Amino acid sequence: MSLKKLENFVKEKLATEPTGHDFSHAMRVKNNALLIMAVFDVNQRVIEASCLVHDLIDRKLDVEYKVSESDVVDKLLELDYTKDEVHHIIDIITNMSFSSKRIPDSLEGKIVQDADRLDAIGAIGIARTFAYGGKLGRPMYGDSNHLDTVSHFHDKLFKLPDLMNTSIARDVALKRAEFMEEFLHQLNSEIRGEE
Ligand code: NI
Repeated sequence: MSLKKLENFVKEKLATEPTGHDFSHAMRVKNNALLIMAVFDVNQRVIEASCLVHDLIDRKLDVEYKVSESDVVDKLLELDYTKDEVHHIIDIITNMSFSSKRIPDSLEGKIVQDADRLDAIGAIGIARTFAYGGKLGRPMYGDSNHLDTVSHFHDKLFKLPDLMNTSIARDVALKRAEFMEEFLHQLNSEIRGEE
């Protein structure tokens, strides 16, 4: 019950977020996490809630979508998450970003981090990367300062399989990375005008 209400809260905030950190991302991350966690004995409530709210406090979000950490805390308490659970959820979502270079302490946190990173690669990763690059006004490819979207594949996305905390996520990540290699290969042929 509280999960459904939390979903509605996130949907309200992020439904129209334009950079790939929208509500559908939060739901995919939750689904990825459910797949990964199946082989572990972990707190599912904490994992699902963390997945749903993980990007609400992210500095990448435009101010109209962002929610303060204290508002996330208040919402979780209102929805009957215990103080311990809320503390755990906040600890996870403040320690999981790629740029922080941190790994959350708990297994729940490691699973949420893997689930989020899986959504950055593969077909969905390609779609999100171009959406984000477009929003920032980046060229799609070929920028001499490496500020184009295709450079981002090499600067970040292909590094993600090695950074996975769980072997199940790493297996999925390797498959998704292979698909991205194929995509870039085809993209390069088309850019060069080959058939
Ligand atoms: Ni995310």
